[in-house]
Amino acid sequence: MSEDVGRIRTREDYRAARKHSIEDPEGFWAAQAERFHWHEHWNEVLEWDFTKPDVKWFVGGKLNITENCLDRHLEQRGNKLALIWEPNDPKERFVRLTYRELFERVCRYANVLKHHGVKKGDRVCVYMPMVPELVIAVLACARIGAIHSVVFCGFSAQSLADRINDAEATTVLCSDGMFRGAKEMPVKSVVDEALAKCPTVKKVIVTERVGWSVQMQEGRDVWLHEEWEKVDGNCSAEVMDSEDPLFILYTSGSTGKPKGVVHTCGGYMVYTEYSFRNVFQYDESDVFWCTADVGWITGHSYIAYGPLLAGATQVMFEGVPTFPDAGRFWQVVDKHGVNIFYTAPTAIRSLMAHGLDHVLPYSLHSLKVLGTVGEPINEEAWHWYKTHIGKGRCPIVDTWWQTETGGILISSLAVVTDERPSHAAWPLPGVQPILVTADGQEISDNEVEGLLCMKFPWPSILRTTWGDHERCRQTYFSHYKGLYFTGDGAKRDADGRYRIIGRVDDVINVSGHRFGTAEIESAINEAKGVVESAVVGFPHDIKGQGIYAYVITEGPVADAEDMRGRIIEAVVAGIGRIAKPDKIQFVSGLPKTRSGKIMRRILRKVAENELNSLGDTSTLLDPKVVDEIKEGRL
Ligand code: WT7
Repeated sequence: MSEDVGRIRTREDYRAARKHSIEDPEGFWAAQAERFHWHEHWNEVLEWDFTKPDVKWFVGGKLNITENCLDRHLEQRGNKLALIWEPNDPKERFVRLTYRELFERVCRYANVLKHHGVKKGDRVCVYMPMVPELVIAVLACARIGAIHSVVFCGFSAQSLADRINDAEATTVLCSDGMFRGAKEMPVKSVVDEALAKCPTVKKVIVTERVGWSVQMQEGRDVWLHEEWEKVDGNCSAEVMDSEDPLFILYTSGSTGKPKGVVHTCGGYMVYTEYSFRNVFQYDESDVFWCTADVGWITGHSYIAYGPLLAGATQVMFEGVPTFPDAGRFWQVVDKHGVNIFYTAPTAIRSLMAHGLDHVLPYSLHSLKVLGTVGEPINEEAWHWYKTHIGKGRCPIVDTWWQTETGGILISSLAVVTDERPSHAAWPLPGVQPILVTADGQEISDNEVEGLLCMKFPWPSILRTTWGDHERCRQTYFSHYKGLYFTGDGAKRDADGRYRIIGRVDDVINVSGHRFGTAEIESAINEAKGVVESAVVGFPHDIKGQGIYAYVITEGPVADAEDMRGRIIEAVVAGIGRIAKPDKIQFVSGLPKTRSGKIMRRILRKVAENELNSLGDTSTLLDPKVVDEIKEGRL
C-alpha cells in the first residue's frame, strides 16, 4: 500500500485532484479504494440513481473495516499508540492502548458478542459513556458484521427504547453508570427502564465504570469483565460485502421521529479515511484529538473509524470542557502533545466566555491544526480560537457535513487551501455541491445564495433510512430531481468558497445537537396541562441556537414556574437533558393560517426579537394573537 496515493499536499494537488474527480469520479475513487485491504476486489466502482435512491460503491467488493483499522497496521504499527484515553477526572490514570492491544481487545469483545449469540446482520445498540470499551464495542460489532446503533448517553430511556425498537436490536451494550464533570450518572438503570418496552432485546452486556451495584436480570444481563475471561483473543473478521450495512445512527429531521441513517462498509471506509488524512493534513507522528462523543456521527467518523483507518494516534476524552475548570481542554492538549484538535463552535464560545485565565497557563505549542464542526462558527469565536489557541500559527478547518454524508464534504484543507472566518470554504475533491433556487434551478454564478445540494454521490453518502426507504427518498432526494438536498442554505463567494448559513427546514441545531421542532413539541405535549405547543430556534450566544417554546395550556397558568418545570421534565423524559427548552412562553393561541398550519416564520421573528419584520399577518385565522405573543415575549 502506498501511503501517499491521492494525498493532497499543495494547492496544485488540490486543483488536479478536483479536476480528476469531476472528469473521472470512478477512477478517482478507485485509486483511493486501492489503498485498503479487500478480500475480493470490486467489479464496478459505482452504480447510482438518485431518484430511487440507489447508490452502490465498490460493487461486489468484500472487506472488513476492522481489518483495515487494526490488522492492516499490526506489522508496521503494532506498537504504535492507537488510543490515549483521558478520564473525566484528571487525577485518575489515563489509559494507553497500542494498535496490537486495541486489536486484541476488539477480538476478545467480538468473541463475547459471538458467545452470546450475536451474528452478522443483528442490530446491537450501544449506550455507553466515552470509555475505551465504547470504541472497542463498536469495532467488535463491525468485526463480526453486526450492525451497531450507538445512542448518545444524554438521551432518555424513552428515546433509547424508540431507537432499540425501530432497529429491532437484540443486544444492548452499556455501562453501570458514567462520570460527567463533578456528577455521576446512571446508565444501566436507564437501559432497564427502556427495556421494559423492548421485546427484541435478549442480552445486555455491562461494562463496569463507576463501580455501582446495578440490577442484573438473570439470563439477560452479564458483566463484560466476567465474560471476558471465558473467551480468547482470536477472532477472524467476518467478510462483508461492500454494501452491507455497517451501522445505523439516528438523527432528527423536520418531521416525525428520528430516523436511522444507514451507512455501509466499503464507501464509508474509503471516505472517512480519505477525508481525515486530507482535511487535517495528518502525518504519521501526529496526535489527533476529536472532542465529540461517539454517540454522534463526528465520533463515528473521526474517532472510531477515520483515525484508526489512517493508523493515527488519538486522544479520547471522557469528560467535559469545564471540569475541573475551563482549562481542561488545554491541559489535555499539553499533557498528551496534541497536534490536531477538532471541536465544536459551542465549546469554543463557552470557553471564550470563561476568559483567558484558563488558557494562558498552557503552552499549546504542540498544536498544528485546529478544526470545528457541527454548526456555523461566528467570526468572534473563530478569531479567538485562531489567536489564543492556535497562537496565530495554526490553520483552522471549518468542516461542514452531516450524519447523512458520513464524512466532511466542505472544508478548507489545512495549510493547502486558504481559510476565511465562518466559511467552510472548499468542496473536498470528489464532492460536487451546487446551489439551487427554491424551485430547483441551479445557480451557476458566484456571489450568490441558495439551497445546498449535491449533484453526484460520494462514497459515504447514506444509503437508506432503516426500515423505511421511502422516507429516505422523500427527505433527501425528492425536493429537487436528481439531487441530494442537504436541508442547509449557503452562500458562495466571488472565488467559489461556500459559507453555510444554516438549516432551511424545521431542524434546530443546539450546541451542535440536532433536533426537529416537531419532536420537541410532541415531548412538550406530554406534560400534564399542555394543549398545544410550537417550538422554534433563536440565536443563542453559547449554544448557537436555543430552543424557544410557545405553549398553550388548559386554562390560565396559576404557577408559571411549576408549569415550566413540568414541561422541562416532559422533554427530559421524552428526549433527554440535551433538549431542554431555554424559554417557555405561555400563549392563548398560535398564529395559524386558515388551513390550520402554524406560521413558524412569525414565531421565529418574535423569538429573534425582530418584531418589526413579521411580514404579512393578514392571512392569519386570528391576527390578534400575534399582538399577545409579541407582548409576552421572553
Ligand atoms: C447539520 C448536520 C457533521 C457532524 C455534526 C453535525 C450543521 C455541520 C457545519 C459547519 C455550518 C454546520 C448543518 C448540517 N453543520 N457542520 N461547519 N458550518 N453548519 O451533524 O447532527 O447531522 O447536523 O449541522 O446545518 O446540516 P448533524
